[in-house]
Amino acid sequence: MRKVYFDHNATTPVHPEVAEAVAPFLGERFGNPSSIHYAGRDVRKAVEDAREEIAAFYGCRPLEIVFTSSGTESDNLALKGVAYLEGNRGKHIVTSQVEHPAVMNTCRFLESRGFRVTYVPVTRQGIVEPESVRKAIGPDTVLVSIMAANNETGCVMPIAEIGKIARNAGVLMHTDAVQATGKIPLDWATLPVDLLTFSGHKINGLKGAGGLIVRKGVEIAPVIQGGHQERGLRGGTENVIGIVAMGKAFSLLSRNMDAEVAEVRRLRDSLECALFDRIPDLVLNGHPTLRMPNTVNISFRFVEGEALLLNLDMMGIACSSGSACTSGSLEASPVLLAMGADPTDSQGALRFSLGYGNTDEDVSCAVDAIEKVVNKLRAMSPLYNAREAKAR
Ligand SMILES: Cc1ncc(COP(=O)(O)O)c(C=O)c1O
Repeated sequence: MRKVYFDHNATTPVHPEVAEAVAPFLGERFGNPSSIHYAGRDVRKAVEDAREEIAAFYGCRPLEIVFTSSGTESDNLALKGVAYLEGNRGKHIVTSQVEHPAVMNTCRFLESRGFRVTYVPVTRQGIVEPESVRKAIGPDTVLVSIMAANNETGCVMPIAEIGKIARNAGVLMHTDAVQATGKIPLDWATLPVDLLTFSGHKINGLKGAGGLIVRKGVEIAPVIQGGHQERGLRGGTENVIGIVAMGKAFSLLSRNMDAEVAEVRRLRDSLECALFDRIPDLVLNGHPTLRMPNTVNISFRFVEGEALLLNLDMMGIACSSGSACTSGSLEASPVLLAMGADPTDSQGALRFSLGYGNTDEDVSCAVDAIEKVVNKLRAMSPLYNAREAKAR
């Protein structure tokens, strides 16, 4: 059976050049980067080379990068790091209703520790409006955290405008760029952002490595205490393999991003057009244009997303549903609900996220399979059949 992987926003395949780059670190290059002998120095150089590759990609200084274990840890470090240090000055944070759980649940934790959090709404098309951030900022606000692009809908947020508002108000700005990295331009020199989160496994690196860019002069508190690693901001022996992999993945992005974005956009558009052409009663979730080039989120009316997902999986198609299965009850995605989507439509939502390695054959194979499964499931839907009978 042909396998089609359309879930790159969950994780990406390891690029062959990344696998090749890390191979020596599973063998003879095993040192601890903090050791001063030859084995340590060799590995320290590899870590610092990776830092330089990543800095070159974003246009930041190598010293502004703090390596962590993941996008989740970086979000924790940004939010708690500011909250712990600035908590005496103010206890208010502004974020949005559509953030990833890594930000959302960190905010909820901080609420349990005496912070107040404003979750600004999004438009019907999933975009955070700068004006709502401006209105939410108060005299005790210490941080604004708005994602650069949403993982479920692909919506690209106006973080430059929002960052300007935060800066004018004297408030620090964090952006979760885990999904946006490699898909939309992010220029550290011109972005009015103080803290930026990235993650290796979303860009064809390895799982278990991420980072936070902390603008020079911005102070945050560490969340993981320990050794002096990462300028004291993140204790613990560095994940050398993960960091080397990220360095390679970023160097590939620096080289190929424009061409890859153009190709993935072409494939995504072709998938989207074919689905809307061939299957009636679809709803696009998200903004038609302010969207990452690789993502499309569609509600298939009269179909349950989880059923669609499982049937597609049996046909070798990997994608993701917008809904989470919680203790046996299917809940609609909080992101789609925050956008004001119809709850029934939200339950029939699927996210297709494309990336490195996808082809035209993948698209045509997936479209055939999706059409087949949707027709099969709709034929079993009393609501759909009632509507069809009425129309006859
Ligand atoms: C927007 C966003 N932020 C954070 C994360 C968490 O990243 P990691 O898997 O590296 O912890 C993800 C992962 O899906 C994400 O999509």
